[in-house]
Amino acid sequence: MSSGRTIVVGITGGIAAYKAVNVVRAFVLRGDTVQVVATPAALRFVGKPTLEAISRNPVHTDLYEGVAEVRHVAIGQSADLIVVAPATANSIAKLAAGLADDLLGNTILASTAPVVIAPAMHTEMWNNAATVANIATLRARGVTIVGPGVGQLTGSDSGAGRMAEPDTIVAAALAALAAAENGRASSDLAGKRIVITAGGTREPLDPVRFLGNRSSGKQGVALAEAAAARGASVILIAANLEVPAPTTVDLRPVNSALDLERAVTEAAVGADVVIMAAAVADYRPVTVRADKIKKDDTGDSLLLELTRNPDILAGLAARKAPGQGLVGFAAETETDPDRLLALGRAKMARKGCDFLVVNRVGWSEGFASDHNEVRVLDRRGDIVCEASGTKMSVAGHILDLIS
Ligand code: C5P
Repeated sequence: MSSGRTIVVGITGGIAAYKAVNVVRAFVLRGDTVQVVATPAALRFVGKPTLEAISRNPVHTDLYEGVAEVRHVAIGQSADLIVVAPATANSIAKLAAGLADDLLGNTILASTAPVVIAPAMHTEMWNNAATVANIATLRARGVTIVGPGVGQLTGSDSGAGRMAEPDTIVAAALAALAAAENGRASSDLAGKRIVITAGGTREPLDPVRFLGNRSSGKQGVALAEAAAARGASVILIAANLEVPAPTTVDLRPVNSALDLERAVTEAAVGADVVIMAAAVADYRPVTVRADKIKKDDTGDSLLLELTRNPDILAGLAARKAPGQGLVGFAAETETDPDRLLALGRAKMARKGCDFLVVNRVGWSEGFASDHNEVRVLDRRGDIVCEASGTKMSVAGHILDLIS
């Protein structure tokens, strides 16, 4: 099966090069033709035979090979999309300066295809003013930047600079390709301010316990990452995420529903779009004990009195400025698709948002999974989008609607 598309995967010399193998594999399995252009330094981290076997094509490294077929220009001209993963600080600097002292630099300069890069480096290098300026230059030029994330780095240290996961890179790359094919800029959300809530709130019972839910935050984080990659300035209100937050967003950690309400109310002022992907507790304990609840004091049963939390989404809808977009989520355990949709329509009427993303959750579906299957309703309750796949690809569909 061939998609008819040629993807050039540029691999530069960082330890994350070993993960680039999975990026190559994901494109090959989709039916794309993959041409790997690896720098000599990249081949110190991952072997040419591995890349040739996985890409099913020769790997190109040397500027002075294939001169008769003008390879330094031909590869770039054949590309529908160029993905550089990992992109080291050095390769980013060269790209920003338009240098062509190796095969990858020539390939990129000779191509008109969209370019997606996945930076990977130590935190100090990512935060260095030179790298910050180079990234700004590339972004202004329409290059899509995916990641890096915050997390464990090569050594025992952790911080910003970890390469985005292969799935995330591939999804961002396909979104950039789709944008280019539809004649839309890959930075179609540039200049937009988007507030996204993600994760699950925790309602404290005492200093060590809480009432919570199983939301991992993966869908909200994917939305934040994808929106930032498309040029939006993103505030991510993060309630107890189980996944690393992207470094490309303004991160505001919260804990309980009331914390989240305060943070989102403040952030929503002046925002173009607010996306409420977080699972917010409907109830919280009436009293929060100052000391740990003791079995000896409570006996064989313990009755907790709960009170309703404010409906934050409905509140935002009631107060929203003209022109502001508001997206809600409805995660339901209903198994019948028609009844699920009916629940979604009733919720849309109650909440008053512009779009409602309806999905099914269960013991093994929805929350912690890397995949999602959603239907999006508009104000009238009509289905305006159906999407299934990785949470990153679902995020792309939701952002297309918003865009
Ligand atoms: O009412 P339900 O919890 O099913 O609604 C889900 C949607 O409403 C989600 O977008 C969630 O973020 C939001 N929500 C809220 N405040 C609550 C409960 C849910 O904003 N107290």
